[in-house]
Amino acid sequence: MSSSPPPLLFFFLIFLSIASAIKLPLSHHTDQLPTNDPYLSLRRLADSSTARAQQLKQPSSIKPDENALSAPSASAAVVKSPLSAKSYGGYSVSLSFGTPSQTIPFVFDTGSSLVWFPCTSRYLCTGCGFSGLDPTRIPRFIPKNSTSSRVIGCQNPKCQLLFGPDVRCRGCDPNTRNCTVACPPYILQYGLGSTAGILLTEKLDFPDLTVPDFVVGCSILSTRQPAGIAGFGRGSQSLPAQMKLKRFSHCLVSRRFDDTDVSTDLDLDTGSGHDSGSKTPGLSYTPFRNNPNASNAAFLEYYYLNLRRIYVGTKRVRIPYRFLAPGPDGNGGTIVDSGSTFTFMDRSVYELVAEEFAAQMSSYDREKELEEITGLGPCFNISGKGAVTVPELIFEFKGGARMELPLSNYFTLVGSVDNVCLTVVSDNTVSSTGGRSGPAIILGSFQQQNYHVEYDLENDRFGFAKKKCIP
Ligand SMILES: *[C@@H]1O[C@H](CO)[C@@H](O)[C@H](O)[C@H]1NC(C)=O
Ligand SMILES: *[C@@H]1O[C@H](CO)[C@@H](O)[C@H](O)[C@H]1NC(C)=O
Ligand SMILES: *[C@@H]1O[C@H](CO)[C@@H](O)[C@H](O)[C@H]1NC(C)=O
Ligand SMILES: *[C@@H]1O[C@H](CO)[C@@H](O)[C@H](O)[C@H]1NC(C)=O
Repeated sequence: MSSSPPPLLFFFLIFLSIASAIKLPLSHHTDQLPTNDPYLSLRRLADSSTARAQQLKQPSSIKPDENALSAPSASAAVVKSPLSAKSYGGYSVSLSFGTPSQTIPFVFDTGSSLVWFPCTSRYLCTGCGFSGLDPTRIPRFIPKNSTSSRVIGCQNPKCQLLFGPDVRCRGCDPNTRNCTVACPPYILQYGLGSTAGILLTEKLDFPDLTVPDFVVGCSILSTRQPAGIAGFGRGSQSLPAQMKLKRFSHCLVSRRFDDTDVSTDLDLDTGSGHDSGSKTPGLSYTPFRNNPNASNAAFLEYYYLNLRRIYVGTKRVRIPYRFLAPGPDGNGGTIVDSGSTFTFMDRSVYELVAEEFAAQMSSYDREKELEEITGLGPCFNISGKGAVTVPELIFEFKGGARMELPLSNYFTLVGSVDNVCLTVVSDNTVSSTGGRSGPAIILGSFQQQNYHVEYDLENDRFGFAKKKCIP
């Protein structure tokens, strides 16, 4: 890390080169799934999807913490978290930071906004032994090896990207801009995990584009994090916001390729030369929605969609509006999240959808035991039934855009070829209007496989179309 005082104001914006679109390979998170136990791998994906939903529902609080890093002793690293196997099930993207650049993998996450990497050779990660992953081998960024790493000063406006305008700079005279106190350490608390570190500015490098003074978290302590996180959410500290992207898009390669190195591109569009307002041919669009509760910072980071109807086959499932759209208190509503594997639905929504599938598939035996084992459901025994008839699952959005999911995006074969389960998860808390918190429906990455998905930030809308990601 540079020992020179942090530069206070840097007005460099992005140097745009000729390229207006950047392509980054998106690959599956390299967590190995044990192929010999398909129940276990599904169970873990289901569990991690529910845990993820809890994380999004108890919004991650970002807070400065003076004690977090002042004592990075053994005691600070003791965290009581059960070491149960949770396959992450996310998608990974590699980014290059520093001079000379160091390339490290990140979890591609549209449900949060800070970009942070495991940082320094002393990085400590507890509860990070996901499916045989050795936490000491999680790739990390070494600021000492980079000539462009700068600790962000407390009065640097970039400090406010994360902490807001009211950040307290202890020991700084508010009347001068001459202060060498660093921006406070951050702690990001999630439902099950956390990460803590300090903010840096670094050079973010792409093949044809350099972003100087990118604000990135240098995390020194984490719990339950398989890698750093590339936050693509709607917050001002996110990668799209800092790069002023006009849009970004991807096509998530099917999970059937889990064991291979297949990757597809994440396209970052800086927009130079792009016709603003133009639609990408073939895509259906629906506007993003803002959460009405602006006092909850996390709710402002999520990509809310205007989900209007859910159909199972031709039958419309009657879902109360308060689940489809966020209410005045900010709770409820539907978001799209690349960090969730399976789609999550609040118990009351899930039951309505599951019951409708069960009703329409009543000619198959329900496999309750399998539902217990996998955490998915409903599950059916399709043995000896010949051609299987499964109703369609359709999400209909404001403006009429319809997402008619391919069967492999919402049903999976389990174990043998004799059983199928709906790949939607819920939790056990029966949500009443009083108890509910956070988004009620979270569209996960499993449901986005083989879709061209576009986050059109310039026009504040979400576009999608079915597409074979790997022809
Ligand atoms: C950082 O520099 C040291 C010493 O030059 C070197 O041994 C180490 O491999 C470097 N680490 C990275 C991640 O580049
Ligand atoms: C900033 O503070 C340092 C030490 O406190 C002092 O030497 C320097 O003159 C100050 N600079 C300005 C521009 O006030
Ligand atoms: C907005 O969210 C905050 C935090 O979750 C909550 O305390 C507050 O009551 C909510 N505002 C309204 C109007 O319900
Ligand atoms: C599924 O149904 C077949 C035929 O009815 C039966 O033989 C088999 O045991 C069932 N499988 C399970 C897991 O119950």
